[in-house]
Amino acid sequence: MIIEAIFSTLNREGSPNFAPMGVVWGEERVTVRPFRQTQTYENLVASGYGVVSLTDNVRAFVQCGLYHVVLPHFTASQVPGVVYQEACAWRELQVISQAGDEQRAEVHCRVVEKGRRRDRFLPGAQRRAGGGHPGDPPEFVRCGLDRRHAGSLRNHRRKNRRRERKTGISGNPGLYQEMIACV
Ligand SMILES: Cc1cc2nc3c(=O)[nH]c(=O)nc-3n(C[C@H](O)[C@H](O)[C@H](O)COP(=O)(O)O)c2cc1C
Repeated sequence: MIIEAIFSTLNREGSPNFAPMGVVWGEERVTVRPFRQTQTYENLVASGYGVVSLTDNVRAFVQCGLYHVVLPHFTASQVPGVVYQEACAWRELQVISQAGDEQRAEVHCRVVEKGRRRDRFLPGAQRRAGGGHPGDPPEFVRCGLDRRHAGSLRNHRRKNRRRERKTGISGNPGLYQEMIACV
């Protein structure tokens, strides 16, 4: 099952990087499919380690996906890496092999350590339906996002547009569409 999560890695200087990534979640193995131009890919293959954190805090997806914010974190216990502070559950990972194509890697990892704090918040309708409304787009269920998050995302998009107009620096509009499509 693919779950949208926050993936963290360390760069060569040891500074953490966070990015939203869909992962194939498992007890013994986790597979992540980063595009080859991402910092996540570079760090993951260079260091050989990563941490995947599950969260229901949608702001974390916006902050690190769009603004490259270094999220609050604590040190992972068994691998060189960090865990997102608000993770409901996490896996500390060691890379065992990689495949994929020119654009996108498929990195297979061994679960070295697991942590869990609480269940992820799922909106009532998703809980009752055992994971989602019939007819909901799969991304909606996968992200654990809820239609109430749409307002917050739209506010971010409005602010971002204003910032872009002022600075002339454009963000990542494709990513916004992807996230708004989730709610
Ligand atoms: C819900 C969600 C899932 C994503 N899944 C992936 C993914 O599986 N692989 C990927 O390369 N990018 C994915 N992205 C896009 C990356 O998070 C985005 O390109 C990010 O800026 C990469 O950051 P980095 O360069 O610091 O690694 C996803 C974005 C969102 C919002």
